[in-house]
Amino acid sequence: MEELGAVIFLKGGHVPRSFSEGGGQVSKRIGILTGGGDCPGLNAVIRGVVKSAVGRGWKVVGIEDGFDGFLHPEKCRCLGLEEVRGILPLGGTILGTSNRGNPFAFPMVREGKVELVDVSDEVCSRIKHLGLTALVVVGGDGSLKIAQELMRRGVPIVGVPKTIDNDLLETDVTFGYNTALETATEALDKLHSTAESHHRVMVLEVMGRYAGWIALESGIAGGADVILVPEIPYDIEKVSQAILERGRRGRRFSVVVVAEGAFPKGGGRVVKEAAGGKSVVERLGGVGEAFSRELGGVLEMDIRVTVLGHLQRGGSPSTFDRCIGSRFGVKAVELIESEAFGHMVCLKGRHITSVPIEDAIRSLNLIDPGGEMVRHAEALGIMLGR
Ligand code: F6P
Repeated sequence: MEELGAVIFLKGGHVPRSFSEGGGQVSKRIGILTGGGDCPGLNAVIRGVVKSAVGRGWKVVGIEDGFDGFLHPEKCRCLGLEEVRGILPLGGTILGTSNRGNPFAFPMVREGKVELVDVSDEVCSRIKHLGLTALVVVGGDGSLKIAQELMRRGVPIVGVPKTIDNDLLETDVTFGYNTALETATEALDKLHSTAESHHRVMVLEVMGRYAGWIALESGIAGGADVILVPEIPYDIEKVSQAILERGRRGRRFSVVVVAEGAFPKGGGRVVKEAAGGKSVVERLGGVGEAFSRELGGVLEMDIRVTVLGHLQRGGSPSTFDRCIGSRFGVKAVELIESEAFGHMVCLKGRHITSVPIEDAIRSLNLIDPGGEMVRHAEALGIMLGR
């Protein structure tokens, strides 16, 4: 591994502001971190950033475990071509990640109690100390909100939109989403045969937090009969009628995809863990079981539930995510070169471009219940719970 001069400064020594200091040759040193939940394609982005930065003669410092890494000197390491060799098809992130390391509300144990402490000053001074010209934040809504706050504190940042949920605005797609869709669609294909053989209702619970994209698109691709998404509160009676109607047409089975954030009309989301305890954000999960109990109350059929869970986040990225992730990485370096700080790379049509981070995080990218994709799903005969 290439020696990082900064390792000395990490232990309190001198930090060159840039590689030009003392040498004469102007170069940049940029940092990269991956924050929030992991997602297929993270390594493709890291590799893309490193390859294109090294190609310009720049140095890259990898910060491990999200923003948390800034608080631990040993978690900042040099990333060269050798470190990113062979990582393109790997799931997860070679840098590690965390969704508990918000520097503006960092959980610390004080006198036996967990308190949320603002450690952003420490993070900013570490970034300065590391001599970083810019920081690439690869993250979803939460990490990019932190990035935006750090920008306001003077840290030059560019963002890369990551999440299987596809819930970020201003990009046609986030990387990782496509792989999650593939996983969910494959699960639906497998559930179909067993549903048909046993004349059962098979319910597949998928992730997505407050957005129903994974459920809707995998449901269309996997030929689901019912798709329930958070954007359309479902009517259990209507769902049951649709399944019975299928029975009358000789279809004695049904496949239902339910997004973890879906909820019945007049009801609430199923929350596994409220925010504030061990978890910084609300953890969803369990709607599959809740829905199946409700359905079992109004329908005389065998019902089984499969929770796809973190399988959607793991594994090798799809071709699409490898390609888009790599290109996002290259574009992030181009943004740094042109000093377009505060911007996030994004896909618009077939082009990789950029938008201000604040536009991407102003709200969530949710399904439009009156939109084209919902209309097309319904035209295919899929029941959306209404
Ligand atoms: O945001 C990605 C995601 O996988 C969501 O779809 C899901 O609700 C959440 O993260 C799960 O988080 P964790 O891994 O912390 O349980």
